[in-house]
Amino acid sequence: MPSLHGKKILLGVSGSIAAYKSAILLRLLIKEGCDVRVIMTSSAKDFVSPLTFSTLSRHPVATDVHQGDEWINHVEWGLWADAMIIAPATAHTLARCAHGLASDMLTATYLSAKCPVFFAPAMDLDMWDHPSTRENINRLQSFGNFIIDVGTGELASGLSGPGRLAEPEDILLQLAEYFHYRQDMNGLKVLINAGPTYEAIDPVRYIGNHSTGKMGVAIAEEFSRRGAEVFLVLGPESVVPENQHIHIERITSADEMLAACMHRFSHVKVAVLAAAVADYKPASVAAEKIKKSTDTLSLELVRTPDIAEALGKMKKPGQHLIGFALETSEGSKNAREKMTRKNMDMIVLNNPRDAGAGFGHDTNKVSFLFPDNKEEHFELKSKRAVAHDIAEAIHQMIKANAKK
Ligand code: C5P
Repeated sequence: MPSLHGKKILLGVSGSIAAYKSAILLRLLIKEGCDVRVIMTSSAKDFVSPLTFSTLSRHPVATDVHQGDEWINHVEWGLWADAMIIAPATAHTLARCAHGLASDMLTATYLSAKCPVFFAPAMDLDMWDHPSTRENINRLQSFGNFIIDVGTGELASGLSGPGRLAEPEDILLQLAEYFHYRQDMNGLKVLINAGPTYEAIDPVRYIGNHSTGKMGVAIAEEFSRRGAEVFLVLGPESVVPENQHIHIERITSADEMLAACMHRFSHVKVAVLAAAVADYKPASVAAEKIKKSTDTLSLELVRTPDIAEALGKMKKPGQHLIGFALETSEGSKNAREKMTRKNMDMIVLNNPRDAGAGFGHDTNKVSFLFPDNKEEHFELKSKRAVAHDIAEAIHQMIKANAKK
């Protein structure tokens, strides 16, 4: 991760049970060499004592625009910072910031801040889903603020779903990226495919798989964040990126995905093929819905096109092709064989049997394999952090190629 050494950070803490995680975030920021000042809302103090934050930050904590008879200059605080991060940002604090309600030190400082502001929301899933919260998030983004994605999982209410505060490590990574990686891929054109493909059996049925597209979409977001122009060919029912700059082409079948990818490939420098393309499709698609008139039904299947292999054949010097291999046994051997056969420059290997890896999870555990026999193995990480590692490896590959 790039260094945040010497950065001046304002950490705003609002009243959520996740406030304890801000103490961990603060600790990480201090370890990175940041100078951090903390502002708490009055309800945040009910969850964690200001003493925790003042001890860790080695600065007094501001909780109101005046303390005793001393007025605290929120304008000066706002101008001091290189970045402001509000974590956790409750629905209430999001709403106050979205509507300019400067009712306490935290929101008054937000309104005075000239630096980038990051919101890391935390709330129960129904509050997160509520149209007012959605609207407030959109408003805050439209003002140029950054929203750090919530995590999904068990919530304080006992319910399970989206709304958890992002992990402190991920928040730290996003801040680091903001400062160091913002625009270093300006001008780079990247093709990414993601999600499943559906192969029609008849007008209502299809053969598909459980891919959610999360990994490929995270990679698309990562390249876009770093300034690349991203063309995303996206399978059905896949998650969609939040970043509005990504060009999305929706497709359904492997044939459509092949056509879309081939059309784009000659215009890009990098292609990352993260889609879980169906390997077989019905030999013919029934014109009418197939009736259940017999006890058994046989379908004749034929191979779908191998998109990676087709692009591997089209690849010109200076282009980079990266693929994925999902293997349950003999991972390295099988992945290397695929990388060679499909003329790839790197293959990302994962094993769905590893806890937290593969389809649907927000995390993944991967290895990178390169044609020169080099391998890099990583721990279980968020898909966002994996996307960061993938983009960085490709960036290094492009730089090394440019020197040749
Ligand atoms: O052969 P296998 O499906 O394991 O290879 C995985 C890699 O090849 C992935 O990058 C995947 O997107 C790509 N692939 C493809 N077209 C197919 C099957 C896989 O592009 N028909």
